[in-house]
Amino acid sequence: EVLIVVFSSFWVGLLEPIPEEKTSRVSYDGYMLLRTNLTSELLENLEKEYDVEIWKSRSGFDTTSDLLVAPFHANDVINQLNSSGARIDVAISDLGKAIEEEHSFIEGDLEKLTVRKSHGMSWERYHRIKDIYGYMNYLAGYKSDICEVINIGKSSEGRKILVLKVSSKKGARTKPGIWIDAGIHAREWISPASVTYAMRELVENYEDHPELIQNFDWYFLPVVNPDGYEFTFSENRLWRKTRSKKSSIRCRGADPNRNFGYEWGGLGTSNEPCSEIYRGEKAFSEPETAAMAKFIEDISSTLKVYLTFHSYGQYILIPWGYRNNKRPEDYNEMKELADLMADAIKKEGGSKFTVGNSADLLYPAAGGSDDWAKSIGIPYSFTIELRDTGKHGFILPAKYIKTSGREVFSALKAVSAHLTA
Ligand code: ARG
Ligand code: ZN
Repeated sequence: EVLIVVFSSFWVGLLEPIPEEKTSRVSYDGYMLLRTNLTSELLENLEKEYDVEIWKSRSGFDTTSDLLVAPFHANDVINQLNSSGARIDVAISDLGKAIEEEHSFIEGDLEKLTVRKSHGMSWERYHRIKDIYGYMNYLAGYKSDICEVINIGKSSEGRKILVLKVSSKKGARTKPGIWIDAGIHAREWISPASVTYAMRELVENYEDHPELIQNFDWYFLPVVNPDGYEFTFSENRLWRKTRSKKSSIRCRGADPNRNFGYEWGGLGTSNEPCSEIYRGEKAFSEPETAAMAKFIEDISSTLKVYLTFHSYGQYILIPWGYRNNKRPEDYNEMKELADLMADAIKKEGGSKFTVGNSADLLYPAAGGSDDWAKSIGIPYSFTIELRDTGKHGFILPAKYIKTSGREVFSALKAVSAHLTA
């Protein structure tokens, strides 16, 4: 009898449908996201003493920090915060539950109605690389007069790194170029989602705004860090870095946004491989940043604008980011355009984006892609931190994708309008 039971449950197991891979294997059940105004030193103590991950730390502009706290330390951490008189708000009471709910689109099963057979993107949930790349290839086929997919290199784990070039005269390098990338940091899912939405609007609704493609060449790199991105689906929702592996080193990956070759190794970076802000062994040690830099360098004389999308916080950040109190000579020109983008976003989706210098507004962090892009002579370079301001943080529910995507597109229109005026 025992044998039969074992045998039959084995077969039942085989018949069960393979669940769709959306939940990561590292469990965040019971983890809390707390927002507090605790001072920075006390915060560092908490980080050392307990299993606390700082999602966002207080900075020049912002007086609160967001802390992810493991369930077995929740009481201790809350007691410590209370005894030091700090304010505490619970932003997320159970991160595991929030992650489970992240994909669901509240307006029901619209996805089935809108997805075409030819590609899998819906912008009603977050999609894996195969859907994103499938969509880029779909555009290159269906709109082959203006779209082309360019394979710019390979990630550490061998994934392709794909750029979609949108241009009314394919192959020619005559128009001023606008570069847009997303997904440098793996867990910032709203960034590839919003950028692919904007890409769709630009290409598929061409007739609504033909001047955008008539006046500029557009380059989209929606997932700079495909290994990290896939890892956030399969293993750990909160992975940030690349997934490169050095045999002599225990921890994998470097922070791609500390790995670019301008002022590499400076403030706000770490030489400790296990750190979330590990800069890598040297500038461009990561194949992803190296491939991107090589491609951008080749077209850099045509590029007018460099935009890199991250989350969260709702900021438009202007170089330099590698140290405080240091602004490029043409800072005010950049600020003028950043303000126009912020106005456009506000009008479109209602969210308020704060504009300012990267280091002064947030914190100094060297080796960022924005500083590097500015350093090679691209006139306008910005890091845009998308929604939200901390209610959901990285775990922004999918119902916000379309609004955020429209906000991004409205910012692109503002850029185009300003530069053609
Ligand atoms: N949140 C981004 C990061 O930490 C901000 C980067 C801003 N740019 C800079 N060069 N510091 O990577
Ligand atoms: Zn980021």
